[in-house]
Amino acid sequence: MASDTAAMGDLGTEEGVRRRDWIHIAALSTAGVGGASLLIPLVSQMAPSADVLAASTTEVDVSAIQPGQAIKAVFRKQPLFVRRLTADEIKSANEVEVSSLRDPQTLGDRTKEGHEDMLITMGVCTHLGCVPLGAAEGENRGEFGGYFCPCHGSHYDTAGRIRKGPAPLNLQVPEYQFTSDTVIRVG
Ligand code: FES
Repeated sequence: MASDTAAMGDLGTEEGVRRRDWIHIAALSTAGVGGASLLIPLVSQMAPSADVLAASTTEVDVSAIQPGQAIKAVFRKQPLFVRRLTADEIKSANEVEVSSLRDPQTLGDRTKEGHEDMLITMGVCTHLGCVPLGAAEGENRGEFGGYFCPCHGSHYDTAGRIRKGPAPLNLQVPEYQFTSDTVIRVG
């Protein structure tokens, strides 16, 4: 995510990592005898541990989600919305003139082939990061039947596309894949 990238800053870039290595190595060089023996533990500490790697993906069993229902999951410590669209919601998303959209995308662009009824998005408003309503039963889904962010009034449609309000972009669709007909792996 852009915010992740921003949060990582320079240390998240290759250049940043190289610079960090150099700082460690430079510090060790000045430590004199014995410095080399410290290098290996320091480098191994910098590699992501197995639990960190596992936490970077999220698996969701979507089999119990009925048309019109959504669930909230967590992906990289942020809310993830997994929604099964009804036939009417798919129809209404496909009827929109895409070129009229602020962030032009079709429903097909935002779903996987053969699974156009499964809409997987981050539950993070693209305005200032509030969690929109609409994933839980009975919540306000806004004027376009998708999600509604009450912080400043952004309305998303049934494809999670921004339709009204200050948010500049559609709800982000994370990287994911179906590992079976009923399970998705995000990340
Ligand atoms: S954070 Fe959602 S409308 Fe401002």
